[in-house]
Amino acid sequence: MDSENTSENERRASTSSEDGTRARSDEERAAYVEKMRKWYLEMWHSEAKKVKQQGDEMKIIEDSLVDYFTMVAKAGVSWGPLAIAMGLSSIDLAVIRRDCKTIDQQIKWVLMKWRHIMKKKGKSGNVDADSVINCLERNKAYGALKHLNENVLKDLGKEWIDTRPAEQIGSQVGGGLIKHSFERFLAAYGSFVGAMETSIDSFYHSYESTAPNTLRCEPGADLCVLGIGSGSGEVDSVILRSLLQRHSSVYNRVIEPSEELMERYKALVRGDTSLSAVKFDWRQQTAEEYFQTKEDTKFHLIHAIHLLTLVEDLDATMRNMWEQLADGGHMMVAMVSDESPFGKLWYKLWDDFGQGDRLKTEFRTSGDVRQWLDARDISYVTSVKEMSLNLAECFKEHSEAGNLILDFMTKTSHVADQPEIKSTALQHIRRNSTVVGDKIIFPLITEVIVANKNDTEEK
Ligand SMILES: C[S@@+](CC[C@H](N)C(=O)[O-])C[C@H]1O[C@@H](n2cnc3c(N)ncnc32)[C@H](O)[C@@H]1O
Repeated sequence: MDSENTSENERRASTSSEDGTRARSDEERAAYVEKMRKWYLEMWHSEAKKVKQQGDEMKIIEDSLVDYFTMVAKAGVSWGPLAIAMGLSSIDLAVIRRDCKTIDQQIKWVLMKWRHIMKKKGKSGNVDADSVINCLERNKAYGALKHLNENVLKDLGKEWIDTRPAEQIGSQVGGGLIKHSFERFLAAYGSFVGAMETSIDSFYHSYESTAPNTLRCEPGADLCVLGIGSGSGEVDSVILRSLLQRHSSVYNRVIEPSEELMERYKALVRGDTSLSAVKFDWRQQTAEEYFQTKEDTKFHLIHAIHLLTLVEDLDATMRNMWEQLADGGHMMVAMVSDESPFGKLWYKLWDDFGQGDRLKTEFRTSGDVRQWLDARDISYVTSVKEMSLNLAECFKEHSEAGNLILDFMTKTSHVADQPEIKSTALQHIRRNSTVVGDKIIFPLITEVIVANKNDTEEK
């Protein structure tokens, strides 16, 4: 019996202990469930908040990028380079251009495609300011980054910090607009071309008379032409058409680093049957890259139209060009005339703000080329082309197009941020301009220099 009672008590004790344990565990479980429920709610709320924040942030950034794209397009420059910097391919650009009629539609598609690219890279659909900054920085889209910095990032408590060395940033006058941002350079160049009063086509066509007409090559052989910094080919194609009047076939090597501009040049060629006798050899590279590889081809004509301000080393580029010239060949360069108000603007800016060696900057004029030729006793002929620019836009305080033109003219990126340089440039422009109605007309004088490599000369 005792033993029976004992085991009954044990069973009860064990049951009650089991029940007791179960009761305590339910309480704890309920508390734990509640705690977890709160945690999930908080997490869900904070995630939802984060997603919304990212969405809002992205919306502001997208609006600002749309402004930037529109501004660049208004300046007459393609939005392509920025889209490419954001990861789109040239096929994407071709499809977007074909399918979207207006710039607004095109920009929306660029952004949509870009989000898709980011998603594929493992970012969420709600890409944020940091991913935009990283992507643009990786692709050296400094113009767009600066625009975002000025227009939206600070409001979001973010900032793009330009960590490049000062000489690359081009804060110095003439310090390298093109080195600072190729994209800004293109936008500035587009605005500058847009300010031309003289019809741009008549300017291009004026090169018809400048192309040398005494070029000689072996009978039956191609006339060999090397064009450096050809851009979208308008001037080069005028030169080629002029050469085709005397030569039945031409081999033309094109050196141009910008894919965008080269594509435009190719499109121009495709649409022009008068160039069908030209064999094109496209080289998408800089003059520096091109001259690094040893080349045996000798050219009857080498030309660089408005390029020599942009190359790294004027002397080395001229030496390389001269070396690839066939005996009896011609070298033709076009540059801002040192005696023109534009050339004098550069000398003035250099005197007031420059440091170091002017020839290492973009402030190079036709005078520097003549000096190079004179020092080597090379004979040449020169001619000038006169055009005019309407620079009224530069005098409107907050005009982005005006600022871009001034960047191009002063060869200084974001010159509006440097009030002393800007005001010196504006004063010089005003002094050398004529006011016609609401236009401020400033002369643009280009000097074209054609040098001849005499047969046996060793320079
Ligand atoms: C001012 S545009 C002149 C374009 C064309 N020659 C014309 O007169 O219409 C200068 C061109 O040189 C190209 N360029 C810039 N830096 C260069 C370099 N280091 N080597 C070769 N081309 C360069 C630019 O992409 C641009 O197309």
